Amino acid sequence: MRSFRRLAIALGLATAAVSAHASFRRPADAVHYRRAALLVMAHHTADLGAMLRGVRPFDAARARLDARVIETMSSLPWPAFGPGTDVAHTEARRSVWTEHARFLQDARRLQEATPRLVAAAQGGSIDQLRAAFGQTVHTCKACHDSFRH
Ligand code: HEC
Repeated sequence: MRSFRRLAIALGLATAAVSAHASFRRPADAVHYRRAALLVMAHHTADLGAMLRGVRPFDAARARLDARVIETMSSLPWPAFGPGTDVAHTEARRSVWTEHARFLQDARRLQEATPRLVAAAQGGSIDQLRAAFGQTVHTCKACHDSFRH
């Protein structure tokens, strides 16, 4: 009984967290939110990429931070592409809304890649990290090709 209650509370919290993300006062707020999340994710992707290409000296602690931020951000933008948020100042194509299931599948591919990126940044070799990074940015490009102007 007690564990059932704990589970119910946990589920309630999870629902609250999801609806907090998905409910925006104005469509423009949703656009700001998702663009900000994508920008932060992209900043840390670029930073990690620069270290892996040797443009910047490799720093393992910084690479771990980049990977963790990318993983965290990778789940945030998608609930902010709700109905009615296809408004001005967006680079999203109409297809985000007309092919929403495919869009969410592309988002899932990124979210599946990022735990591997974190694992490689924590314990792997540079070659493993480079491979995990390559797989991650491949999912960015795949989605942009279909869903971003
Ligand atoms: C599931 C699809 C999808 C994935 C995966 C995805 N993006 Fe995007 N991205 C978009 C869409 C759609 C927009 C346009 C958002 C808007 O303007 O409303 C966007 C916008 C951006 C922007 C512009 C943000 C701004 O300043 O407005 C950057 C930068 C970006 N993405 C980088 C990335 C990176 C880096 C990754 C991978 C680590 C990634 N994206 C993964 C769909 C995706």
